[in-house]
Amino acid sequence: MNAKKTMRIAVIGGDGTGPEVAAEGLKVLKAVSAIDGFSYETADFDFGGDRYLRTGETLPAGAVDELRKFDAIFLGAVGHPDVKPGILEKGLLLELRFQLDQYINLRPVKLYPGVETPLRDKGPADIDFVVVRENTEDMYCGVGGFLKKHTADEVATQTAIYTRKGCERCIRWAFEFTRKRNSPKKMLTLVAKTNVLTYGHDLWWRTFQDVAKEYPDIKPDYNHVDACCMWMVKNPEYYDVIVTTNMFGDIITDLAGILQGGMGVAAGGNINPDPGGTSMFEPMGGSAPKYTGQHVINPIAAINAMSMLLDQSGQAKSAQRIQQAIQKVTGTKMKSQAAGKMGYNTQQIGDLVVEALK
Ligand code: IPM
Ligand code: MN
Repeated sequence: MNAKKTMRIAVIGGDGTGPEVAAEGLKVLKAVSAIDGFSYETADFDFGGDRYLRTGETLPAGAVDELRKFDAIFLGAVGHPDVKPGILEKGLLLELRFQLDQYINLRPVKLYPGVETPLRDKGPADIDFVVVRENTEDMYCGVGGFLKKHTADEVATQTAIYTRKGCERCIRWAFEFTRKRNSPKKMLTLVAKTNVLTYGHDLWWRTFQDVAKEYPDIKPDYNHVDACCMWMVKNPEYYDVIVTTNMFGDIITDLAGILQGGMGVAAGGNINPDPGGTSMFEPMGGSAPKYTGQHVINPIAAINAMSMLLDQSGQAKSAQRIQQAIQKVTGTKMKSQAAGKMGYNTQQIGDLVVEALK
């Protein structure tokens, strides 16, 4: 987008502690926009579990077209204890990813200074890689069904769909991203399971080989997903950028998330990189309903998501400034990244990041 025009951000605070952490992301946005001199406006949307329980709708008619008009969406969290699992996930989060064709799920994995990792003898220099997860296909596409449901002969299918277009656009974006990231490794690792998924992941493999030819400056690499899980724990410093399928990307980014200090830190972007595309940024933590209103939840992930939003919206300098500020706060102020153990409450962490921006 044009950096001069007013950026328009749709805010979905969502459920549980979502609105509390989103508020801290917005606090940091306000402060950084004043420092770097850009303008923005926000509009709130009340989508989530409470609205669903009230109206029976996850996304009201016309909501997606309304959201499409925004430059970006900032999401707190969805997930409500009184709503059956799957309804909000499918009806809200996945619906937005699919309808807005956010075909990249970008998940940076960076251990900030002062943050504890469960890996012994590993520090910030060792845990610094990025997972690029395909975000619109695979077993997530909702293709399948039941036969003879609730009988002894019941059959269920859940089909993984992979398309040439879908994997190629994701793989190409990952190569471009690796080039821009320009780390000394300059390596893109395809994570899949070509030894068993001999159709779908053969398509990914062949596409990866084809696209790699366009990027002679990037080292193409391959790991089976099971081996990747071992390496990520044993040798996380091996990785630069990983590109992977939707389902495997979901799983390995929870593993990766815990290496970087957990759900209070990890953030993700659901990106539609096409011109005019609307991307959505979220902390990975979930709604943590039991902590609602206690102001003990860690907003670093949400602030991190705001930094990613700005990076994708033409404000790279502000995004970088927020990254520096987060690292000052984790490195010199916070006692822990766990809810209730930070040494500060949610708003105080937001204030500390704002202070550190200057
Ligand atoms: C994530 C979440 C979602 C996913 C769920 C909530 C549908 O786990 O963003 O990783 O599986 O993609
Ligand atoms: Mn997940």
